[in-house]
Order: sequence, then C-alpha cells, then structure tokens
Amino acid sequence: MKDQNESVFDERAAYWDEEPRRVKLANDVANAIIREINPTNDMDALEYGCGSGLVTLRIQPFVKSITGVDSSKGMLDVLKAKVEKSGIKNIQTRFVDFEQGGKVEGSFNLIFSSMTLHHIKEPAQLLKQFYDLLLPGGYLGIADLDKEDGTYHSNNTGVHHFGFDRAYLKGLFKQVGFKEVRDVTATTVVKGTEEKGKRDFPIFLIIGKK
Ligand SMILES: C[S@@+](CC[C@H](N)C(=O)[O-])C[C@H]1O[C@@H](n2cnc3c(N)ncnc32)[C@H](O)[C@@H]1O
Repeated sequence: MKDQNESVFDERAAYWDEEPRRVKLANDVANAIIREINPTNDMDALEYGCGSGLVTLRIQPFVKSITGVDSSKGMLDVLKAKVEKSGIKNIQTRFVDFEQGGKVEGSFNLIFSSMTLHHIKEPAQLLKQFYDLLLPGGYLGIADLDKEDGTYHSNNTGVHHFGFDRAYLKGLFKQVGFKEVRDVTATTVVKGTEEKGKRDFPIFLIIGKK
C-alpha cells in the first residue's frame, strides 16, 4: 500500500520517456505553447505536473526561468538528473501536491500544464491558484484531452476526468478571471491498429491572459 507521499507516477518515472507517442505529444504541446503564447527570455515560467520534464525542457531555451512542479518525487528525480547532466541553470524543481494542501510560492509570467488536469479532482480550485500566481498580463496554457469515453488510458487509476469539454473549461478560465480565453488543437494522439480500429484523441491547448 502506498503512503500519501507516494504517487502512481513514481513507478512510471524511470521509463516515462521510452514511449515515443508520449514524447511526440509533449513536443507538439510545447510547439503549440511556443507558437500561440510566444514565451520570451524575460519570463519566469512554471509547469504544473512537469513529470520528467518533456515539455519544460522544450520551453526552457525561450524563457528566463522555469519551475517544474510535480507531486511525484520519482518524476522530479528524473528531471533533476537531466538538468544536472546537461548543465542547464534556469530550471528548478518543486515537490507540491495541490490536492494535499501544497502551495506553489512565487509569481510567474507564464504557467503551463500538459496532461495533468485530468488527474485533479477540482480543476476550478487549481485554476484559481494559477490565476493568483500569475503577474498581471501573464498567460496560462492548459493542454489536455478533449472529452473521451474512458478508453484513452489502459488503466484509469488516478484519472478523475475522461478529458474535458472545451467550452466548459474555457468557462472555468473566465470564472476565475482570465481574459482573451481561446483554444487550439495542439495535436491528435492516434491509438489502436488498422485491424482492431484506430481512435483519434485530440489534445487542446486552452490559453487565458490575466
Ligand atoms: C500524464 S503526466 C504528464 C507529465 C508531463 N507534463 C508530460 O507531458 O510528460 C501527469 C503528471 O502530473 C503529475 N500530477 C498528478 N497529480 C498531481 C497533483 N495533484 N499535483 C502535482 N502534480 C500532479 C504526475 O505526477 C505526473 O507527473
């Protein structure tokens, strides 16, 4: 049995980057953030649910600093090892679980999160925390699955939402105060085979400005 500081992601951390589909998804999301938000080298950024840093490491060259936040020590250790090995100076990591009452300190020009919101029971509360952490004029970008039927993950442990309706989530952005809220499709994950049937799972990027 896991204690409350262990995460199901701890045991997946060591081989997280070995799945090419996952790496492509992270690259596509990072490219969408770069294209749509245009991060600049005067920005302090934060990724919530950074995992092994697949998205963070793609955004890092464009910004002043990135804080990678995650509730899995195993994931953060993988990211820390990559950062140390490559000598990158502007990425720091923080262990925070918002759902266990953890709080992120600081203020940021850009907050992004990829494939993490569906693991959060109360997305509106997290969006409010993001709003409070952003400086005026700062951007939030959330990438996640469009509403699906529960077949995206082979194991739905820790999955609290089978994707999101874009209009609903954009409504939550507006409720907590974000302006200029819009969405794009960052990528589409294709699962299955020709024989068994292929399925498309579009991934949105919703952007809001404080
Ligand atoms: C599907 S992974 C995505 C990781 C990374 N963003 C990527 O694109 O490869 C979801 C991540 O969210 C983290 N996570 C889940 N629940 C969390 C919470 N309540 N607080 C912080 N991180 C959380 C997990 O530990 C995991 O690293």
